[in-house]
Amino acid sequence: MNILLIAPGFPSEMPFFTRGLARVGAQVIGLADSPQGGLPAMTRESLAAYIRVPRLFDEEVVIDTVRRHPLASKIDRVECLWEPGMVLAAGLREALDLPGMTVEQTLPFRDKEVMKQVLDRAGIRTPHHARATTDHEVLEAAERIGFPLIVKPIAGAGSADTHRVDDMDQLEALLPRLSHVAEVSVEEFIDGEEYTFDTISAGGEILYSNIAFYRPRPLIARTVEWISPQTITLRDFNAPHLAGGREMGVRVLKALGFSTGFTHMEWYRTAEGEAVFGEIGARPPGARSVELMNYGCDFDSFTGWAEAVCTGRLTQPWERRYNAAIIFKRAQGNGHIQRIEGLERLLARFGEHITSVELLPVGAHRRNWLQTLISDGYVILRHPHLATTMEMADRVGVELQLYAG
Ligand SMILES: Nc1ncnc2c1ncn2[C@@H]1O[C@H](COP(=O)(O)OP(=O)(O)OP(=O)(O)O)[C@@H](O)[C@H]1O
Ligand SMILES: [Mg+2]
Repeated sequence: MNILLIAPGFPSEMPFFTRGLARVGAQVIGLADSPQGGLPAMTRESLAAYIRVPRLFDEEVVIDTVRRHPLASKIDRVECLWEPGMVLAAGLREALDLPGMTVEQTLPFRDKEVMKQVLDRAGIRTPHHARATTDHEVLEAAERIGFPLIVKPIAGAGSADTHRVDDMDQLEALLPRLSHVAEVSVEEFIDGEEYTFDTISAGGEILYSNIAFYRPRPLIARTVEWISPQTITLRDFNAPHLAGGREMGVRVLKALGFSTGFTHMEWYRTAEGEAVFGEIGARPPGARSVELMNYGCDFDSFTGWAEAVCTGRLTQPWERRYNAAIIFKRAQGNGHIQRIEGLERLLARFGEHITSVELLPVGAHRRNWLQTLISDGYVILRHPHLATTMEMADRVGVELQLYAG
């Protein structure tokens, strides 16, 4: 099996997927715009060939380059796990006449309005919504939908430019700040908890699924700096209060005609217990969530995905053994990390449950927490009981502190 993999080295999870493909026996042909020597070592070691293009987003040139490549006729599948490359992957499949998602099937995963329109037709509960390209359209949508509401880019990621708006004054104040966003989605604000529903699927069948719980809601976590955001992969996937999200997840994949690969859906659970659709990507979640799945089930889902893609099966055994939590840390102060406090005590107290500590070292410059959820580092821990997992995660949130200056 020859797989053309777009962006095999970036984002940081990609080398593991690339290695996964090599491990299940695929010949991996990488496609990106960086020099081959600059790829991460794990990616380089896993590639059978590499096609370098001048710019990944010059679709015409990319398709032309691949078509002329001596290996073109040998390619069996085109894969991409990086959100901005999804449509390019679909374009390449069409150009090379290969199976997998077409451009038309991919668009509902990229455009948050088209996504919700398709799901509305399938009877799935989405927030009331409208597409808007002008200030006038935003105001009109706000009047129709009512406050509070959410305004966000049609093809956003990482909660960038996503705003909660409580009244007309706030909306009018926001409009000038949206001028660089060509098109926005205006949505009813859904109050509730936020969860994911993630799958590895093949041929329309779900082979592995996962539900993670975000603490607190991403919009709050992404706007309040002192918070140490948590994502917890839940061991009790079948808990009754998650039934609405599980059922919705299955229906959403059917409605979108998803067949093979990784998916990452986000959904809201209201105080009344209603499940409301958030968004879905035809790719894995980022910010180490795939690693959390691995820690939760003691398996390698990177390779699991690769096997599903290459053979349609998932033979690796996996079992939901733990809740796995990641806690992202943000230093206090600006500049370089000066000191780290509380780590020894936490390790002494429950080190056996901690699987990873990846903090910036003293002397390193702080990362921009608004641009990366990873922030100044993270701790991953796991435990069979959810209450214990949450308590340990909260202790990491409070007791582990990084100071910068
Ligand atoms: N209709 C809504 N009601 C309530 N909260 C919302 C709504 N839409 C978005 N949000 C909040 O904003 C966050 C970001 O929105 P969304 O997931 O649609 O955008 P995104 O930029 O693709 O996010 P990410 O890449 O971080 O998953 C959500 O996780 C949620 O906290
Ligand atoms: Mg989101």
